[in-house]
Amino acid sequence: MVKSFSNVFSNINVNLHLQNSHFISIFVIILFLAEKLMLSQLPINLEKVPEEDKDEEILRAGIIAELDAINFYEQMAGYTKDEGIKKILLDIAREEKTHVGEFQALLLKKDKEQVKELEKGAKEVEEELKD
Ligand SMILES: [Fe+2]
Repeated sequence: MVKSFSNVFSNINVNLHLQNSHFISIFVIILFLAEKLMLSQLPINLEKVPEEDKDEEILRAGIIAELDAINFYEQMAGYTKDEGIKKILLDIAREEKTHVGEFQALLLKKDKEQVKELEKGAKEVEEELKD
C-alpha cells in the first residue's frame, strides 16, 4: 500500500516535471519562431536607404523589435500557470519598455520632425478626449 502510494506520488512528480519541460520546449520553439518571424528582424534593406537616414531607420527597427518583445513576453506570461515563470516574463517585458525608451531617446535626438509629431499627436488626443 505504501509502495503504491509512493508510485502514485512519483507518477505525479514525473507528470509535473514533463508538463514543465513540455512548456519549456514549447517556449523555446516559440522563441525560435519569433526570432524568424518578428518585426525585429531588419524589415528594410539598408543598402537602399540613403546614408543620412540609416541611423534613424536602425533606431526605428530597434523600437519595433522592443515593442514586439513586450507583447511576446506578456503573451507568454498569460500562457503559463507557473507564478515564477510569469513573474520573470513580466519583469523582462518591463525591461523591454526601458529599451524602447533608450531607442526613442536616441531617435528623438536625430529626428526633430518626430519630436514635433509626437507632441502634435499627444495634443490631438487631449483635444479629442475633451469632448
Ligand atoms: Fe530589449
